[in-house]
Parts: sequence; structure tokens; C-alpha cells
Amino acid sequence: MKIDLAEKIILVTGASRGIGKAIATLAAQAGATLAVHANSSMVEAQALCEELGKNSKAFQADLKDMEAVQELYRSVIAEFGQLDVLVNNAGIAISSPLELDNPQWLEDWNTTLAVNLTASGLLCKLAIADFLKSEDGLIINISSRAAFRGDTQEYLAYAASKGGVVALTKSIARAYGKRGITAFGVAPGFTRTDMAQDFIDQYGEDHAMKDLALAELTLPSDVAQTVIFLASGLAKHATGTTIDVNAGSYVR
Ligand SMILES: NC(=O)c1ccc[n+]([C@@H]2O[C@H](COP(=O)([O-])OP(=O)(O)OC[C@H]3O[C@@H](n4cnc5c(N)ncnc54)[C@H](OP(=O)(O)O)[C@@H]3O)[C@@H](O)[C@H]2O)c1
Repeated sequence: MKIDLAEKIILVTGASRGIGKAIATLAAQAGATLAVHANSSMVEAQALCEELGKNSKAFQADLKDMEAVQELYRSVIAEFGQLDVLVNNAGIAISSPLELDNPQWLEDWNTTLAVNLTASGLLCKLAIADFLKSEDGLIINISSRAAFRGDTQEYLAYAASKGGVVALTKSIARAYGKRGITAFGVAPGFTRTDMAQDFIDQYGEDHAMKDLALAELTLPSDVAQTVIFLASGLAKHATGTTIDVNAGSYVR
């Protein structure tokens, strides 16, 4: 069995670092051309594109801003003429304790939902419209263990947004499977990135490690390998599913 993504145009959001960067790197190794999305880390995104080759290109957009999300999609299509695989990976986890006053808590909630769920939903909508023309297209949405296990009280919005991502993925799979579109989720647990580091700084590495069945923390490449398998189309009949990649820390 060989994974070959040659001729595939793949948009990975949040590909400047962490899990998204690992996904883009593996996808390029399998032959794909990457639309590497970033927000504040455009220098890193452009450097990554030079490494990836195959005419990969970096695109900037703040996914809090739905006009910017639409412009991102338009720019990718204008550059490459098509999109084959959409990977909604960009995400934020804001620590937002219930002790905050309501306006601040609500602002954190709205920002989290915008970046983690609304932007993904809008990119799915835009991609589906094009995928329907060719009756071919694949979507991978990065959720989280938090969608299934829940999270701490500081991360209610994060868990809610990731639960939404799971339902979004299932619905797309059910609605469009007969028209050639498949949709998958991947739900990482703690993965060694800047995002996990914020949590580790707050709670300590032991807290992250103690739930694991494995003896090591998940790396971005561990998540990326599952994403690339899904992107290959080899798991077509698993459409609608969300695969856990959490080192056995939450087995459902
Ligand atoms: N790491 C974990 O333990 C873990 C666990 C479960 C799920 N996940 C999920 O996995 C995905 C990737 O996480 P990660 O750990 O790789 O995160 P990360 O290292 O913090 O990287 C986040 C990425 O998202 C982008 N991003 C953040 N805010 C954005 C905004 N407002 N607009 C556009 N892009 C934005 C960043 O772009 P710039 O740097 O260019 O701003 C960056 O590329 C997320 O959906 C996350 O929820 C991670």
C-alpha cells in the first residue's frame, strides 16, 4: 500500500507550526502541493513553503474574521485553480475561568468559537460548493479529545467548539457522501506543540503524562500520519468518523 498525494492541492490551516506544519510536511513528502495558511507566523509559513517545494504557497488570514476566511479560500482557488483536500487544523485554546466577568468570558467564548468552529464551518461550506462541481473532495477537521472527554472549567469554550467540529464532520459526511465528498475528524490528545506547552506551563508535564497509556507524549508527526492516511482516500468507508490520537489517554 502506497500513499500518493501527487496532483493533490491541499489547504492546511494553521500550518505555520505545530500539528499543521507536520501535516503539511508529510503531505508534501507524499507528493502534494500545499496551500500553507498562517496568521501571525507568515515568515515561518513562507520558509516552510520553500522547504516543501512543489509550488506550495503561504496564505495569511486571521480566522477570527469571516471576511478574511472567505478571502483565504478565494486566494487559494485563484492561485491553484482547484482544491482537493481541506484540512481545518488552526485552533486556539484560551484559558477563560468562570471567575472572569461576563463580557471578558463572552469575548473569549466568541473568539474561540469563531476560530475553532465558525471558520472551519465556513471553509467547509466554500469547499463543498466546489467539490460538488467535480463530485470529488475530502475534508479533515481537527477536533480534540476534549470533544469526547470534556475539559477543565477554564476551557469550556474550547471543548464546546471541538464538539461542534465533530458534529459538523458527521453531518457533511452524511449529507454529501453520495456526491463524492468524504469528511473525517482527528481528535488529538496532548501533543507536543506550543498549545500543549501553555497547558503544561499551567498544570505541569506530569499532569499531561499521567493519563497516557503510552510512555511518551504524542508528537505532531503522530497526528499528521493519521491525517495523511485519511487524506489518501484509503479510508473512504470510514467517512464521518473521528479518529482518536491521544496515546490511549481517553479510550471511548
Ligand atoms: N497540541 C495539543 O495538545 C492539541 C490537543 C488536541 C487538539 N489540538 C488541536 O490541533 C490543532 C493544532 O494545534 P497545535 O497544538 O498545533 O496548535 P499551535 O501549535 O498553537 O498552532 C496553532 C496554529 O493555528 C494558527 N492560528 C491560531 N490562531 C489563529 C487565528 N486567529 N487565525 C488563523 N490561524 C490561527 C496558528 O497560526 P500563526 O502561528 O500563524 O498565528 C498556528 O499555525 C488545533 O485545532 C488544536 O485545537 C491540539
